[in-house]
Amino acid sequence: MLCFKVMRNFSLWSSVPLGQLDSMSGVVAQYEADDFPQKVNLGVNTYRDNNGNPVVLESVTKALQMVREKKLDNEYPPIEGLQSFIEAAIKVGYGESYYAKNNKNIAGCQVLSGTGAVRLGFEFLNKFVPSGTKVFVPNPTKNIHPIIAKMAGLQSQEYRYFDPITKQVDFSGLSEDLYSAPNGSIVLLHACSHNPTGCDLELYQWKQILDLTKQKQILPFFDMTYQGFTSGDLEKDAQAIRLFTEAGVPIILGQSFDKNMGLSGQRTGCLSLVCSNEKEKLIVVSQLNLIARSLWSCPPVHGARIVETVLNNPELFKLWLCELRVMAQRMKKMRVSFTKALKDIGSPHDWSYISKQFGMYSLTGIGPAQIKELIEKYHIYLLNNGGISIAGLNESNIKYVAQAFHEVTKHNFI
Ligand SMILES: Cc1ncc(COP(=O)(O)O)c(C=O)c1O
Repeated sequence: MLCFKVMRNFSLWSSVPLGQLDSMSGVVAQYEADDFPQKVNLGVNTYRDNNGNPVVLESVTKALQMVREKKLDNEYPPIEGLQSFIEAAIKVGYGESYYAKNNKNIAGCQVLSGTGAVRLGFEFLNKFVPSGTKVFVPNPTKNIHPIIAKMAGLQSQEYRYFDPITKQVDFSGLSEDLYSAPNGSIVLLHACSHNPTGCDLELYQWKQILDLTKQKQILPFFDMTYQGFTSGDLEKDAQAIRLFTEAGVPIILGQSFDKNMGLSGQRTGCLSLVCSNEKEKLIVVSQLNLIARSLWSCPPVHGARIVETVLNNPELFKLWLCELRVMAQRMKKMRVSFTKALKDIGSPHDWSYISKQFGMYSLTGIGPAQIKELIEKYHIYLLNNGGISIAGLNESNIKYVAQAFHEVTKHNFI
């Protein structure tokens, strides 16, 4: 009895501070709570169709049906995940010809989407790169990257990526920073559809980074969470992966099928490392398994079965490629229409950079006062760094959003 009383009066967690999630989570909650009929969510980080709805792709629906018909059990998969999924993901990530020649040297592990890929990859690196090796991340980057590095015990440092004046890649800043990074550093690179800037590197720039990588023995870690969302073409969006692997650079690759298959609730991704030979690959997989065992034990099978079916069935794969093109083209169209709508309204600013950026995100450059006004007066929700999701724009809301952007920026921009 006494013991019970003591326990009731003693709060073990009274000094624990409130956890603050990233701004995207806050935006989603604020948007959900708003009952204004014309509200717009530009903080959404999964694809939305022209009606503002999440997509359920036909290729995915058909794959789901095929998976159901197999009446599979729900037992644990191997710790590294479903082999058929891992191989299919690697094939699409590295390209068929590289896969055909080198698959036996690529260590792959099914992970919980893009986040899981970065986490497992960073944990592995923390164990096996020399102590003190830093991971360089772009400034800005997906806000979770430095947090994961810290959680995994790695020190992160930013390299310049975005030029706030031109709203394009600051390539000379990037090159200078990578050039001054210590030899052997890990460098995190967004393969395509850079989040949050929408600014991707061109092939000639990737070539220069490749030269720097070789010169400085950099270990490139590609985060490819949006393959297909920049150009609508899987091959083109993976051009950096093709370039680096064909040059014999041992890359690390994180892939997610959350966005490009509309499967974010299934948490399906793949982490892979290019090894020197098959023996090394088996050892690397064994270490990834040891880490994964303590993180999530083994990954969920459902999403992996769906993705594997889409990727391995030629008819569904073809259908998915078409659906991917439609999504990418819609986002491109929204970029152009938004820029044009602002011009037609008479905005004094040059918004053309929005149509020059790629993929699902844009760092608009608008400042805190304008963001506040957009949210409070116009019920348009966006990130506190001025980042918007292009997928949140559609033909029904684009004029309203453009008018609101014009109103809040006509007298001053930042
Ligand atoms: C560049 C980047 N990496 C990783 C993630 C995390 O991806 P996932 O939702 O697949 O875990 C995101 C998601 O927004 C992202 O944009």
